[in-house]
This record gives sequence, structure tokens and C-alpha cells, in this order.
Amino acid sequence: MIITVAGYKGGTGKTTTAVHLACCLQSHAPALLIDGDPNRSASGWARRGEFPFRVVDERQAARYARDYEHIVIDTKARPDPEDLEALADGCDLLVVPTTPDALALDALGLTVEALQELGSDRYRILLTVVPPKPSRDEEEAREALRGLPLFDTSIRRLVAFQKAALAGVPVYQVKDPRAHLAWEDYQRIGEAIYEQVRRDPEVREGTRPGGEAASAPA
Ligand SMILES: Nc1ncnc2c1ncn2[C@@H]1O[C@H](COP(=O)(O)OP(=O)(O)OP(=O)(O)O)[C@@H](O)[C@H]1O
Ligand SMILES: [Mg+2]
Repeated sequence: MIITVAGYKGGTGKTTTAVHLACCLQSHAPALLIDGDPNRSASGWARRGEFPFRVVDERQAARYARDYEHIVIDTKARPDPEDLEALADGCDLLVVPTTPDALALDALGLTVEALQELGSDRYRILLTVVPPKPSRDEEEAREALRGLPLFDTSIRRLVAFQKAALAGVPVYQVKDPRAHLAWEDYQRIGEAIYEQVRRDPEVREGTRPGGEAASAPA
């Protein structure tokens, strides 16, 4: 399956999400992470340490893609609306991370306007960097996003994610008492995506590009 991570605002956890979704899919079948951001944050993260999957940039993608069952694509912030449409057309599911603050939710409004024409089965919003209670940010964001396709699980705000990026490893390899919580959040998202994409008849029957990948055994 092909999962693309995108959104209008910078710093909403796109690269963090792409890296950990690639980890999740890799546990089912070989996964490739395509770094489609000219900043090359995912490639830098991988270079500082080691990932359990390969990272290539979009110039190398055509050659490598055929060898992998699953592909996750990280993208740059602020795509224009046509970019977003093309990105969505090129994948089975577009994952749109957003932080639960007002500015990010405003930017998300733009993304959603551009995505709504695609149909709500083609994208899903992921709340990231969510502060712990008593903050009401998550609750308020869920209220503001009511009616839109949103993952039930949010990604908590945990310093383990920053440590992981610095060390060049996935978060489950970080020495931090809460790293396992960080990994659990993405594992839940990975499973939800796996289930959603496998249920999609176009993917199951291989009539959408990348569709044949979804029939790989778990
Ligand atoms: N759940 C989280 N908890 C705490 N920090 C996080 C979390 N997710 C991401 N971060 C941190 O927030 C910063 C931005 O994350 P990331 O690079 O994944 O965002 P991005 O959307 O890819 O940014 P850009 O638009 O610059 O590509 C990084 O320092 C990252 O370590
Ligand atoms: Mg990024």
C-alpha cells in the first residue's frame, strides 16, 4: 500500500509520522520511505543512525519502489492545492497530521477544502503533539473537526520523539521512560491504516496503483 503524509502547515509531525508509519508497515512486509521533502529531514534522521527500512528521495523512488510491498511518502509543508490533489491521487491514503492549536487547525481548514472533493475515504486527519490533560486542546480540536475523517487515536506530545530524531532511530529504540507510549500511539495508527486500506475494494482488487501490495500477508 502507498501512504502519503502531507499538510499545509510546517512542523505538525509529518516526518515523525512518516517514519513511524514506515516502521509499522515494515512489520507486515518490506516498506520503503520516500523522502519527498527537499529539506530531506527523513533522510537526515536515517543518516544519523539506523532505520529498519530503506529511505530514498523521490529521484530514486522509481527504481526502488518495485521491490517493496509498502511505501510511505513524506512531503514538504505548504503544497499548493494542485500538489495536494496529485499527492492524494498517487496514494491509497493521505494522512494529514495536525497539532491541536488554533493556527494549525486554520491551516488544516485549507487542506481539507482541497481534499473534500476527493471523498472522505481517501484521507484521514491525525492529531499530533497533543498535550496531556488538564489541557483541553485535544477535546477542542476534536470538536472543531467534527464530521471530518479523524483517527480515534492521537499522538501524544512526548520528548521521546525529539530524542529519536536526534539519535537517528525510531522512537522505540530511545532510552526514555515514556518511549513505549510514543510507539504505542503510532502502532495504533498503523493498525487502523492497515485495516482501512485492506477493506478498500479498489486496493484489494489491485485496480488502484499500489493495490496489489495490500493483499500481502500480514
Ligand atoms: N508527538 C510529538 N511529541 C513531541 N514532539 C514531537 C512530536 N511529533 C513531532 N515532534 C517534534 O516536532 C518537531 C517537528 O516535527 P516533524 O519534523 O515531524 O514535523 P514536520 O511536519 O515534518 O515539519 P516540516 O514541515 O518542517 O517538515 C520535531 O522537533 C519533532 O521531533
Ligand atoms: Mg518534515
